[in-house]
Amino acid sequence: LTGLLGLAGVVGVTGCGAGAGGNTGTLAFTNRLRIPPVLDPVPGPDGVKRFPLHLRAGRAELLPGKTASTWGVNGDHLGPTLRARRGDRVAMGVVNQLTEATTLHWHGVRLPAVMDGGPHQMIEPGATWNPEWTVDQPAATCWYHPHPHGMTSRHVYRGLAGMFILDDDRAPDLPGTYGVDDVPLIVQDKEFTADGELDEAFGGTFGLLGDDVLVNGTYDPYFEVTTTKVRFRVLNGSNAHVYSIGFADNRTFHVVGSDAGLLAAPAPVQRFRISPGERFEVVVDFTPGEQVVLRGFAGDSDVEEGEYDLLKLIAAANLEPSPDLPATLADLPPIVPGAKVRRFTLGGSDINGKDMDMTRVDEVVPAGAREVWEVDNITFSHNFHIHEVAFTVLDVDGEAPPEHLRGRKDTVFVEGRTKVRLAVEFGTHTDPKTPYMYHCHILKHEDKGMMGQFLIVAPGTEDQTPRTLAMAG
Ligand code: C2O
Ligand code: CU
Ligand code: CU
Repeated sequence: LTGLLGLAGVVGVTGCGAGAGGNTGTLAFTNRLRIPPVLDPVPGPDGVKRFPLHLRAGRAELLPGKTASTWGVNGDHLGPTLRARRGDRVAMGVVNQLTEATTLHWHGVRLPAVMDGGPHQMIEPGATWNPEWTVDQPAATCWYHPHPHGMTSRHVYRGLAGMFILDDDRAPDLPGTYGVDDVPLIVQDKEFTADGELDEAFGGTFGLLGDDVLVNGTYDPYFEVTTTKVRFRVLNGSNAHVYSIGFADNRTFHVVGSDAGLLAAPAPVQRFRISPGERFEVVVDFTPGEQVVLRGFAGDSDVEEGEYDLLKLIAAANLEPSPDLPATLADLPPIVPGAKVRRFTLGGSDINGKDMDMTRVDEVVPAGAREVWEVDNITFSHNFHIHEVAFTVLDVDGEAPPEHLRGRKDTVFVEGRTKVRLAVEFGTHTDPKTPYMYHCHILKHEDKGMMGQFLIVAPGTEDQTPRTLAMAG
């Protein structure tokens, strides 16, 4: 009898969890959405923009009235928004004030492999890492997060993540006042203990699938809309959760950008699905005085459990008129792949039957190549992220993707038993000794070894490039 009662008690406490429907309709929207501050770079006499970034432990109020032990960049939880323009020379000064080693990876940024912040660029406690590069890519919403092999789940979940917005003079006239009509939304699920601490519940097939979804680290948030159009830059910074995002009233809005930049033209949608690591930029119309809830709807994949109210939008009685949405956004020549096809089979937690090996080079790619990467998922949901590149989705199980998935990307959701083909454009920074990563961005899978390494080398030197890496000390 006590056993049964105990079980009933547990079900009662966690009743809004897996499969049962998340937090829809239960929030009062009492907290103003936190907007991560933009970090103004320190301009050097050499014109280089310097960004000091301190990784540190802290305590943050995540659940109202309770504090949790967290990690943050230049603060207690999450990090500032970084911003740079095409052509800028940027220099990061990443100081590790934590008690364990980590890295900082610039997800979506195209740069030399030694600057990438992957698992080979560990920063020991007390050390400073100083990568420096010239921004040379179209406007895009990128982000940064740690990437230490086997520890990424934990480090991201504790709060090390932030937006990295890249601008470009050629970008069209879209809402662009940060925090007003150009608003970052970092969506992350959390699991809390009774006293409000982060529960590192990384068990199960997908690792952490939390019952509470925070936006920019804000529980139960609202945002006051003051313009007739708002651009939201949505980042799924969750460990595993996939969301199908739309509005409670099913309104149509426009996707204007995906991971690696703007779409050719705005794509109307009622929902977009976003998996960990992906970004979508959307533009939403508002009428004066209205209120509407942005929601993560339950989808049909195995990592879209429950429905989650994300954010209440509260429009002012008078809204500033926004410019019309441009009919065309970017002039994007298609990525035309050559004959080279590489195949990747996604198993339960491996790629092509192999676990990640830091000393093994899995692929060697000539600089500037255009290739087809075929990703065949023979198990449950995964996604696939490639460092350094931009790609387009050629097809999903032989069918052309929907319009909003036709832009440049760096991460793609691959449902269970589905095959996607990507046209991948590689960069030109060569380094025969330092690899870039490709991996599943469900962080538990990545940590368990669902990751491989590729080198970009001078064309013609592929065959003489050693496939074994000496590990730096
Ligand atoms: Cu967002 Cu390899 O990372
Ligand atoms: Cu990345
Ligand atoms: Cu996976």
